[in-house]
Amino acid sequence: MERPVRRQALIDDRLEAAVTNVEPPALRDRVSDTALVGGKRVRPMVTVLSCELVGGTPADALDFAVGIELVHTASLVVDDIIDRSPIRRDSPSAWSAFGHDAAIVTSDGLLGEAFALFSADPTAMRTVTAAMVELGEGEAMELVATPSTEAEYMTLARRKTGALFRAAAALGAIAADADPETVDALGEYAERVGVAFQIRDDVLDAVADPETLGKPTGRDASLDRPSLLQVTDLSPDAANERAREQVDLAIDALERVEPVDRDARAYLLELAEFVVEREQ
Ligand code: FPP
Ligand code: MG
Repeated sequence: MERPVRRQALIDDRLEAAVTNVEPPALRDRVSDTALVGGKRVRPMVTVLSCELVGGTPADALDFAVGIELVHTASLVVDDIIDRSPIRRDSPSAWSAFGHDAAIVTSDGLLGEAFALFSADPTAMRTVTAAMVELGEGEAMELVATPSTEAEYMTLARRKTGALFRAAAALGAIAADADPETVDALGEYAERVGVAFQIRDDVLDAVADPETLGKPTGRDASLDRPSLLQVTDLSPDAANERAREQVDLAIDALERVEPVDRDARAYLLELAEFVVEREQ
């Protein structure tokens, strides 16, 4: 996807500001290294574009956008410990760079900074809390209540990835004071994009080149993780088709929103396409 460069720079600047005042310096360095290295910034972009779509400005959404990215990064730090993944975003993962104890504190630090960005707005707090409940449920499903059917897999993908995407879009709409129907339609758009993102993640784990991907591949098979390809006997092409179906439904949900900013709408459509076509 061609990046909306101006929004990207705004997100990066606010992200940097959010992690540079952490105390003490040892925690600050680890929190900022982890938050600032690499990353596609898909979720904060969804927040900013959703806000603009319904009449807000990027500035209105930046705190929530950065908060969602920090929650996401915190979850990856824990995920990499559980999965023993040494590389994340083309760099050593937090635990392999700092050790397990410091990585756990870094994840907590990231979450603390995230909640500081939501805490003034009760609706935002409710939205992000609901997503985090699902994130935890999704991780538990992945590890101990493993899906055995495609339908159960879809619940897992919705919880572990769709829910945070839903929150990302909902928070953008909330920042623009949108009505509840609009918040819900944008939430559905993003949740389905998130599920498609997770399915593509599963396919890339099976077929991608680790150099291009920026993280090791073959992990789902070697750790016996319930990816779509592990749970079902779908081929990678058939799994991509499932992702495509979710993106089509995401676009249907987006159609329910009256766009104030057509440029933002075009980028949200492009972002949905990027998710299924991405190679990294
Ligand atoms: C990556 O999935 C991981 C997630 C989408 C969610 C992980 C959630 C937790 C660890 C729960 C705890 C949450 C917090 C906020 C501390 P993946 O392993 O399929 O993807 P990968 O290939 O990028 O590792
Ligand atoms: Mg993982």
